[in-house]
Amino acid sequence: MSYQHIRVERDGAVGLIVLDRPQALNALNSALLEELNRALDAFEHDREIGCVLLSGSDKAFAAGADIREMVGLHFPDSYLEEFFAGVDRVAARRKPVIAAVAGYALGGGFELALACDFIIAADNARFALPEITLGVLPGGGGTQRLARLVGRAKAMEMTLTGRQFDAAEAERCGVVARVVPLAELQATALDTARQIAARSRTAVLMIKECIQRCDESSLAEGLRFERRLFHAAFATADQKEGMGAFLEKRPAQFQR
Ligand code: HXC
Repeated sequence: MSYQHIRVERDGAVGLIVLDRPQALNALNSALLEELNRALDAFEHDREIGCVLLSGSDKAFAAGADIREMVGLHFPDSYLEEFFAGVDRVAARRKPVIAAVAGYALGGGFELALACDFIIAADNARFALPEITLGVLPGGGGTQRLARLVGRAKAMEMTLTGRQFDAAEAERCGVVARVVPLAELQATALDTARQIAARSRTAVLMIKECIQRCDESSLAEGLRFERRLFHAAFATADQKEGMGAFLEKRPAQFQR
């Protein structure tokens, strides 16, 4: 498959997607989002792939939705075409998707990172939802996902002012899983993705499905769902292998 705005590679069981529109600081236009979802579709259906790593450049993960594309957009077209719904498709993936964020993650770029399962950030990362400064509001899930991560007060302040905040603040308020020096970002993120990809695929997908439920169900329903999947895990060969390997003091070899 050929791509114009992204680069797609693989490293063993890890699928690598790199946003690649340097002339626009990886601003997300419709074509890029379409390519991104096409690449994610391919990895989703590829039995060899256990985890996906999404990254940008050292200067920008993505500086937002493409303002040049949006400036002339009118309501009927945006509504009829479900403009920017591509981010929801990223969030709905079953395999884990890690965002490795360096530099700017602004507006739709930040929202894309929030649609991934977790963010590993470089120490030069800058986050913001600056849509308010452009006369609009976040449309890629920003108000919902940010509020769930950082709470109402901080989400209100961040989205109503549009201010940028750095990686340290992002880590403090739960936006990112961890922060590493820029020079170590790719290696750390890849190592994390490799670890996940080497685990039981079934268990990995079950965990992701359980955590995705947090936002959609009551605690009681979520606990019941988790318990059912936990019981179901005992029907897998990976459970026998994982626990057997521990008792035999050897590394587990999970099924592919
Ligand atoms: C289109 C963009 C862009 C964007 C940068 N560029 N961000 N093009 N859409 N979101 C382009 C610039 O026009 C410029 O192109 C080139 O990238 C380099 O950008 P500079 O501004 O020259 O770089 P710099 O001075 O280093 O400033 C970096 C920056 C700034 C602080 C990130 O570019 C910036 O503020 N960008 C906009 C950030 C933003 O408002 N994002 C939110 C968008 S709204 P030329 O051709 O001039 O060299 C959004 C809504 C999502 O995301 C809601 C869902 C639909």
